[in-house]
Order: sequence, then C-alpha cells, then structure tokens
Amino acid sequence: MDLRKTIREIENFPKPGINFKDITTLMKDGDAFRYTIDEFIKALKDKNVDVIVGPEARGFLMGTPVAYGLGVGFVPVRKPGKLPAEVESYEYGLEYGSDTLEIHKDAIKPGQRVAIVDDLLATGGTMEAAAKLIENLGGEVVSMQFLIELEFLEGRDKLTKYEVNSLIKY
Ligand code: PRP
Repeated sequence: MDLRKTIREIENFPKPGINFKDITTLMKDGDAFRYTIDEFIKALKDKNVDVIVGPEARGFLMGTPVAYGLGVGFVPVRKPGKLPAEVESYEYGLEYGSDTLEIHKDAIKPGQRVAIVDDLLATGGTMEAAAKLIENLGGEVVSMQFLIELEFLEGRDKLTKYEVNSLIKY
C-alpha cells in the first residue's frame, strides 16, 4: 500500500518553512491505519520484545495498537509533570534551549527487551532521550520503528547503535 498518499502535507505549519506531515489523514483511513500497525508488528514479532514504549503524544497512537497486537505491555514516555508516580527524567539539547522527557521509574525492569514506536523521526532528539530513559532503568532497546523518517534531518546519525526502521522516507 502507498501510505504516502494518505499523509496530508501542510505548508508553513507550525512555523514558516516547515512542511508538516499530518498523520490524522492516515489514521482516519481504516485500511491505511491497519496496514501501518501490521507493518510494525511484522517487523517486531520475532524480536522477543517484552514492552513497547511510545513517546507523547503521537507515539501513543502508533505504539499502543502495536503492543496490543504483539500481546505485550505499553509504557508511555511523557513530557514533564504528566506522570504521577516517581519518574526518571532526561534533559536533552535543542537548537535553542532544551527539553525534558520522563518515564515512570518502575515501568521497565532490568533486562527487559524494549521496542520504541513513534510516528516521526526528525532530528532524533526524542528517540535518543527515550532510549536513554529506558537504558537508565536497565532495559535494552532492541528496535526503533517509525512511520515517517525525514532523512534530510539526519536523525538516524544520532541512533547508530540501534536498529532503526521507517515505513516512509522523505
Ligand atoms: C514529534 C514526533 C516525534 C518527535 C520527532 O513530537 O511525534 O515524537 O517530534 O522529533 P525529533 O526527532 O526532532 O525529536 P512532538 O514533540 O511534536 O510531540 P506531539 O506528538 O505531542 O505533537
């Protein structure tokens, strides 16, 4: 299936010069959404994954059906102040300023095999932070799965020690 046709592109959103990839048009297309999730499941089914991690917010949309399909648990990585129990935090640099992501400290057990699923790989900062959080809890990141990769931002270069797979490349 040509998923690219189901993704709407919005010029100059959220800022001038950015061509936003809108996945809501993929998700409201039942065939395209099912195909996407099935592709992720196919890529992960032989990797003995114990847990799927998805970063807020669109990583929840992609990650939870994959976890359900594999019959494993789902763990959210969230923006600061959203998770109620004790958290592990990771601060990472952006072009201007910094950002922080959090995970519940008891969400991953040492030795668990974790796959991260998200809608988009751009600069790779989110994924690098999510992987650090998982590793700080003793988990092993066995795969990173994306719907879309913006190759010109070279996010993959930050993730060379991981398996990185994307369904659509721009
Ligand atoms: C987007 C996207 C990825 C991340 C990729 O999320 O869903 O998680 O950015 O960018 P990066 O590779 O440069 O880190 P965003 O932070 O916009 O959050 P949202 O899903 O809550 O809108």
